[in-house]
Amino acid sequence: MAPLLLLSLLLLLSSTSLQAQQNITLGSSLTPEGPSSFWLSPSGDFAFGFRPIEGNTSSYLLAVWFDKTSDKTVVWYAKTNDPDPALVHVSSGSQLLLNSNGALSLQDPTGTEVWNPRVVGAVYAAMLNTGNFVLAAADGSTKWGTFNNPADTILPTQVLTPGMKLRSRIIPTDYSSGRFLLDLQSIGVFLYTVAVPSGNLYDYYWSMAGNTTKLVFNATGMVYIILDNGTQISVTSGVTGSMLDYYHRATLDPDGVFRQYRCPKKFSNLSSQPWSVVDFKPPNICDSQLTNDGSGICGFNSYCTFNGTNNQSICLCPEQYSFIDEERKYKGCKPDFQPQSCDLDEAAASMQFKMIPMNNVDWPLADHEEYSPITKDRCQQLCLADCFCPVAVFRDQDNTCWKKKMPLSNGKMGDNVERTLFIKEEVSRYS
Ligand SMILES: *[C@@H]1O[C@H](CO)[C@@H](O)[C@H](O)[C@H]1NC(C)=O
Ligand SMILES: *[C@@H]1O[C@H](CO)[C@@H](O)[C@H](O)[C@H]1NC(C)=O
Ligand SMILES: *[C@@H]1O[C@H](CO)[C@@H](O)[C@H](O)[C@H]1NC(C)=O
Ligand SMILES: *[C@@H]1O[C@H](CO)[C@@H](O)[C@H](O)[C@H]1NC(C)=O
Ligand SMILES: *[C@@H]1O[C@H](CO)[C@@H](O)[C@H](O)[C@H]1NC(C)=O
Ligand SMILES: *[C@@H]1O[C@H](CO)[C@@H](O)[C@H](O)[C@H]1NC(C)=O
Ligand SMILES: *[C@@H]1O[C@H](CO)[C@@H](O)[C@H](O)[C@H]1NC(C)=O
Ligand SMILES: *[C@@H]1O[C@H](CO)[C@@H](O)[C@H](O)[C@H]1NC(C)=O
Repeated sequence: MAPLLLLSLLLLLSSTSLQAQQNITLGSSLTPEGPSSFWLSPSGDFAFGFRPIEGNTSSYLLAVWFDKTSDKTVVWYAKTNDPDPALVHVSSGSQLLLNSNGALSLQDPTGTEVWNPRVVGAVYAAMLNTGNFVLAAADGSTKWGTFNNPADTILPTQVLTPGMKLRSRIIPTDYSSGRFLLDLQSIGVFLYTVAVPSGNLYDYYWSMAGNTTKLVFNATGMVYIILDNGTQISVTSGVTGSMLDYYHRATLDPDGVFRQYRCPKKFSNLSSQPWSVVDFKPPNICDSQLTNDGSGICGFNSYCTFNGTNNQSICLCPEQYSFIDEERKYKGCKPDFQPQSCDLDEAAASMQFKMIPMNNVDWPLADHEEYSPITKDRCQQLCLADCFCPVAVFRDQDNTCWKKKMPLSNGKMGDNVERTLFIKEEVSRYS
């Protein structure tokens, strides 16, 4: 009797938690308000379904997330297939249906389809233990999977082939398409700044070149590209830790940095910040881009500063400027004072404005005048009297003066800035 009991216990175990996949059958559905709002992987590590959006009780994401971490980290979310993919907003009363044609269909409360992954004829769906949510054919092959349609994150065993992209979200709490793109091309992997909302690419700010066949996040947590001659080049390095003890992910974060993270499984539901950084690219994002179009890494009129202690970059406004939107700093900074009248002569302008030196900050490129040789004083006076000049830059070595164009772009702070910069500020506000 006892062996039989043991056997049935084993069978029970293998049919639930140890199983590699559980089939989601045709006709199954999910709704944001339940009774069933997500499907779990057999391990319970990942879930696919509806996720409430922070700060909006009537709006949801269709997403895949780590279900056992305290923050239930989102690793995939549904987007439209447009040239500039947009986040799919799900409202209360929506329904996701795996219909009898083997198609997945997201419908709004009126029954109108708002999203589908453009495949039919699936035989079942499955939330796999790897974090890949798939629609499968009868032979078990994947017809469509979240791994082949990534959002901002990749997971171990996920592979990108040329043409596939990761797009950052706009800010950590808003999953709308953000300002940075990881683009895997046949000539390498590139990080670009992107115009929001058009999706147009600016210049790239980091790359790893080579005739590339794929980017791999392998099952032991290494991220590398494979060249056409078989050579592997690491994208990230660092200590990843065992797959048994840690969760892993790599995300193109809203600040434009591609970071590989790990999270100890044991404490994943306890700590409020369960993820730590294994490695990241580029090494200093503030120094990584000089673009002729767009604002650069930070928004217009702001500047980027990298803190080597915690490896975080932040965007700041100069004195007498403030963020247009404190929560969305990428929108840039605006002056707190009225623009200078273009009718003021030099004497009148100097009553109202003053040139204030700023150390170790520069907004390279985009000048509207250049004078050389000239004195430092004259450089400041010429900018002060010019209603189009927000900032003057002076280089001591060859007595060269530049007047910057508004809005200021490519702003950065760093020890390697070798120029003296003067920013125009209002006298009455200066203390
Ligand atoms: C899932 O469905 C396929 C196709 O019907 C079947 O071959 C397979 O055995 C099923 N797997 C599980 C775990 O039920
Ligand atoms: C909440 O989400 C709904 C549906 O997407 C949207 O119409 C509404 O503006 C959102 N409200 C807030 C406060 O963001
Ligand atoms: C990369 O591929 C191109 C075209 O296929 C070839 O001309 C070039 O030599 C290759 N470069 C290297 C470094 O293998
Ligand atoms: C992952 O890549 C590393 C580095 O190339 C290699 O040492 C390791 O064996 C790979 N692991 C798997 C499971 O492929
Ligand atoms: C493969 O190509 C890369 C880049 O051209 C080169 O550095 C490397 O030596 C090549 N490896 C082999 C095994 O040919
Ligand atoms: C964390 O997970 C462990 C093991 O799964 C469980 O025993 C514990 O109750 C969980 N703690 C919290 C705060 O959820
Ligand atoms: C850099 O980060 C460290 C650790 O978070 C912090 O203590 C320090 O104040 C930061 N430095 C600057 C200049 O912000
Ligand atoms: C910051 O990055 C450097 C490598 O660029 C690394 O050696 C250091 O440990 C990192 N510091 C933190 C706090 O992550």
